[in-house]
Amino acid sequence: MNRRISGMLLGVLLAVSSIAGCSSSQTDATTAKEEANTEKPGGVGKVGVAMPTQSSERWINDGANMKKQLEALGYEVDLQYAEDDVQMQVSQIENMIASGVNCLVIASIDSSALVNVEEQAKNAGIPIIAYDRLLMDTDAVSYYATFDNKGVGTAIGEYIKEKKQLDQAKAEGKSYTIEFFMGSPDDNNALFLYNGLMEVLKPYLDDGTLVCESGRTSFEDTCILRWSQETAQQNCENYLTGFYSDRKLDICATALDGFAYGCKSALEGAGYKLGEDWPLITGQDAELMAVKNIISGYQTMSIYKDTRLLAEKCVKMVQAVLEGTEPEINDTEQYNNGKIIVPAYLCTPVAVDKDNYQKIVVEGGYYTEEQLSQ
Ligand code: BGC
Repeated sequence: MNRRISGMLLGVLLAVSSIAGCSSSQTDATTAKEEANTEKPGGVGKVGVAMPTQSSERWINDGANMKKQLEALGYEVDLQYAEDDVQMQVSQIENMIASGVNCLVIASIDSSALVNVEEQAKNAGIPIIAYDRLLMDTDAVSYYATFDNKGVGTAIGEYIKEKKQLDQAKAEGKSYTIEFFMGSPDDNNALFLYNGLMEVLKPYLDDGTLVCESGRTSFEDTCILRWSQETAQQNCENYLTGFYSDRKLDICATALDGFAYGCKSALEGAGYKLGEDWPLITGQDAELMAVKNIISGYQTMSIYKDTRLLAEKCVKMVQAVLEGTEPEINDTEQYNNGKIIVPAYLCTPVAVDKDNYQKIVVEGGYYTEEQLSQ
């Protein structure tokens, strides 16, 4: 048997034993692992990486980081983007299975729409790692690498609370207007974010310190399908014309940098001016454009997610299922996908604004000063 094929079979064998967590195959796995270690120093096999879209910068970075890090370990990588087309993602994953990948890494478009193709992978002995977004309603997923998604919402909420000094405002009987722009209903992360945000802000909505003139505060009323920037802009325009002719909008609580760009356009269209009545605008992902807008003042903050770190944690999970090693896990409770609780590693999201972007994103090597000044 040639080295490559034997290596691939080995990967599958190890993956199956590792998923099943089956102690009787421990010895086989150990022997196989030793064999792999002596035969090949690097990673063995091919990894299919299915990403949702290139329309947002973060996923381009995620894909590039995964490819780079996996290839550096010796794995072959098939990286595919599905441009937010669920059917296209299903076909891409089917093709990956047919082409004999040894492991799948999936950042889904619709977390529940991949159940059948995940079952196909499972039947073919191909382990699956959920990347950033949880894969729902399946027991075919071995691990989940993500950020603390509820923590993202909490961080946005805490930021608003602090910057607007909501406790002090409450004591003085002052209030601020706020509108919400939440994530896609088919993305499990979106609801986690909403719950974290509301954990902080709901008391202020209840006591009138925060006033949502549109009355749209529930997740159902504020979620935006497929994280569409255009829909966010449209919603913001509708809110401004429908509810803010007498009173200005003070806060756009958005769950995405793209939504912040949409709100910016709507606000400019409605005549809001920087330095005068420009609202506090939140975002997520610390995209290059967002950090530039933070510097100029058009966006107030974003949530920085270091995709290099996420890729690193995910790659450890790939190695674990293929080589029988142990990945780092720090959550075994929160991510119940309806079938199983998926063991997860949660990276920590960080709020960035004008005061700390230098330290976090520039000194952290995420963007250079040059990129930010172009
Ligand atoms: C991710 C966010 C991202 C959003 C839209 C979510 O699943 O966690 O970081 O902004 O998708 O792409």
